[in-house]
Amino acid sequence: MKIEDNSQVLLFHTQRKKWLVNVEKDKKFHTHLGIIDFNSIIGMEFGQSVRTATDNEIFLIKPTIHDFIMKSTRGTQIVYPKDLGFIAIRTGLKNGSNVLEIGTGSGALTTFMASIVKPEGHVYTFDVNPKFMEIAKKNLTRSGMIDYVTMNHHDPHEGIQNLKDIDVAVVDLGDPWSIIEQVKQVLNGSGGFVSICPTMNQCEKTVASLKKYGFIDIECVELLIRNIEAREGMTRPSMRMIGHTTYLVFARKSFS
Ligand SMILES: C[S@@+](CC[C@H](N)C(=O)[O-])C[C@H]1O[C@@H](n2cnc3c(N)ncnc32)[C@H](O)[C@@H]1O
Repeated sequence: MKIEDNSQVLLFHTQRKKWLVNVEKDKKFHTHLGIIDFNSIIGMEFGQSVRTATDNEIFLIKPTIHDFIMKSTRGTQIVYPKDLGFIAIRTGLKNGSNVLEIGTGSGALTTFMASIVKPEGHVYTFDVNPKFMEIAKKNLTRSGMIDYVTMNHHDPHEGIQNLKDIDVAVVDLGDPWSIIEQVKQVLNGSGGFVSICPTMNQCEKTVASLKKYGFIDIECVELLIRNIEAREGMTRPSMRMIGHTTYLVFARKSFS
């Protein structure tokens, strides 16, 4: 696949040195590794590389949703890839799913879910902070996911009656337990629920509320990811590790 004017390209040097750019005719990108002239890469194939004037090799990579999320503009804490993947399989997200999301934030989770449910499904997301919604909108537009998302500047505690037939509900608020009753009203029977709970206190309160409203299949998990440094004859786990991002609380709606 060829790079065109206005293509999104990940300029990849190493894991730590990579940039997500919009390649525009007659523009240049300046890095401490040298300058890249966009006119010279328009027409090249994704996967090829160029050399900067200072002789550093930069690969031209087609960005994935992972790249868009990790390079997104952040106004809030975001949900990280290790948690995103498990959310998808545990809630049964798929093409065609209708999703309610409460707490858009920077739109990282929104971007991921839209990429799974498109083209037939949709994400209906709510936030009360216009500044974060603007950031999320830019991130969703850049990743090409905006057409599969409806953004609502509205507090769902005041009602979400305009929605129905929701397959999956996702809550990333400080007090997820406060919104379970409203979520239950719009969620399909046996529909999946997940809340992002950075602290155990939030897990406890959320589980208590899920039980009160008859949710079943309740499960709290924490996912840890450990990088392995693979080098011939000396492969071992990395000395550094992100110790904690969040706990996840899953459940399904029953009619009891
Ligand atoms: C941690 S951020 C969500 C991050 C998001 N999941 C992501 O991956 O980018 C929580 C968001 O919830 C929003 N929020 C707080 N109270 C809310 C409410 N009552 N209704 C809707 N959104 C709310 C905040 O404005 C904030 O943007």
